[in-house]
Amino acid sequence: MCGIVGIVGHNAVAPLIVDALKRLEYRGYDSAGVATVEQGTLGRRRAEGKLVNLERLLGAEPLAGTIGIGHTRWATHGVPNETNAHPHFSNGVAVVHNGIVENFATLRDELIADGYVFTSQTDTEVVAHLVARELARGVAPVEAAHATLKRLEGAFALAIMFEGDENLIVGARSGPPLAVGHGEGEMFLGSDAIALAPFTNSITYLEDGDWAVIRRGGAEIFDLSGKRMERKRQTSLGTVFMVDKGNRRHFMEKEIHEQPEVISHTLAHYLDFTTDGLKPLDLPFDFKTLERLAISACGTAYLSGLVGKYWFERLARLPVDIDIASEFRYREMPISKNSAAFFISQSGETADTLASLHYCRSQGVPIGAIVNVRESTIARESDVVLPTLAGPEIGVASTKAFTCQLAVLASLAVRAGVARGTISREREKELVHQLSETPRFANQVLKLEGQIETLARDLSRYNHVLYLGRDTNFPLAMEGALKLKEISYIHAEGYAAGELKHGPIALIDENMPVIVIAPHDRIFEKTVSNMQEVAARGGKIILITDQKGASQVSLKTYETIVLPDVPEIITPMIYALPIQMLAYHTAVFMGTDVDQPRNLAKSVTVE
Ligand code: AGP
Repeated sequence: MCGIVGIVGHNAVAPLIVDALKRLEYRGYDSAGVATVEQGTLGRRRAEGKLVNLERLLGAEPLAGTIGIGHTRWATHGVPNETNAHPHFSNGVAVVHNGIVENFATLRDELIADGYVFTSQTDTEVVAHLVARELARGVAPVEAAHATLKRLEGAFALAIMFEGDENLIVGARSGPPLAVGHGEGEMFLGSDAIALAPFTNSITYLEDGDWAVIRRGGAEIFDLSGKRMERKRQTSLGTVFMVDKGNRRHFMEKEIHEQPEVISHTLAHYLDFTTDGLKPLDLPFDFKTLERLAISACGTAYLSGLVGKYWFERLARLPVDIDIASEFRYREMPISKNSAAFFISQSGETADTLASLHYCRSQGVPIGAIVNVRESTIARESDVVLPTLAGPEIGVASTKAFTCQLAVLASLAVRAGVARGTISREREKELVHQLSETPRFANQVLKLEGQIETLARDLSRYNHVLYLGRDTNFPLAMEGALKLKEISYIHAEGYAAGELKHGPIALIDENMPVIVIAPHDRIFEKTVSNMQEVAARGGKIILITDQKGASQVSLKTYETIVLPDVPEIITPMIYALPIQMLAYHTAVFMGTDVDQPRNLAKSVTVE
């Protein structure tokens, strides 16, 4: 969840490193730092908080040098302050690190016993001291780094630099991603290709366990035993792009409004709207004979998978096991060979999701990755990539990636039903046509933003909010709660409406707004009963429904948001929009940092 960068270049690298870190700031923004070697001497600038603080410091106290490493941090060990900011030094060694050194306490005790003095609370500092201790024993820098890597346990991506050597950076990967960029007589290192895009699109991704010796002439890659490894050099798909907010105040606002377009792109990748049919898709399994489908993901991605479960089971009669990845990875779920597994991840780097993928790989199960970053680790370790075409999602709160994940899952559920004979050609044409209408309806719903913004001003006065939904609106209720709490810091819970009377109804009073997500579907009346239970206890009901639903509800609501009547298959993508807008505008009224909420990061690459 941190971003690391290294450059062995021609020009002053400090400003280049800061620019690259800006592209990685979505991975963490608790503190940042840069180190360079200039005329043989290590120099360093570090600042607490956002990258802009480091940039200001460098403006006041510039760093020279054509070799350097940089870091933007999401704190795992040690409070986010300047002392704990990377790079960390020890006797002429500089280190930046993403991940967790799980055996750092043992190593720390060993090093303290050897007389090393720790200045930070971080696990990373042990790496700098270990390398320095090897150098003190007369070991050359590359071998010192190699010996150190053998001592580390846990997940880490590292860049190590040495005082006195202006043509050497050692990079290492064990878990979190690390990319090597090839320039003209200069070389780069970064947590992903996005960071390196302005310098080069010629990329080599280190594999798990690789480490690399990087000099201006190129990179030599080794495995932990020291054996030379050949890794593919590829042209990054992530062309040079400057993702900006356009005329929007936040990336999240921009990304909410991009959804009609990116949902359309995503659907069109899987569906042929000229024939209202399915495009060819090579899968490493046959839906027709598949016995079970496992799905695992985290956070919002998990909730899209939960919606997918309803679709696969209802449309294709395909049983689905789904679990949050942090549980799935340790559950040792029995999984037969005639199963398949999907892993859903916007970043494609989420550690728990990747670990769950490894479990399924160990069981010999074919693996599909529903990801937004095609060159991500999860994508590279899958048998088939099923891309969401959402474009770069910078806002930490996932919005367009979520609806694009739903678009992929809906398309796959139709595909599965056709393969299994549960969906006739006529029904296929009807469903594909209905899916093709998603962008049009989404555009209509986004026009309700004014009403939602007004409602959000009210909502921002409360400390607790309950979201309710049934069927595919139950995962949406949880998603609405997740959106609200992660960007406005208001406590919120999403519940199955039918569960209300089994406990949560005790919470209901005038201080607990209840947001009910209820299109007029086959169980609408059941949800109306739940709303009556809430109203009878003085609860404030905010109903999100459609024209048909609004016309049938007699009870008085605090507010009703009326969406167009839409086909059932697209309601999750459509009803995601008002809950996203509600969370966004509530956070704006709360004055929180909408794009980079406190304590969060866009990509959780540690468990
Ligand atoms: C969603 O708004 C959150 N930022 C978070 O729950 C996120 O969905 C989760 O961390 C999974 O990330 P991934 O999709 O990149 O794997």
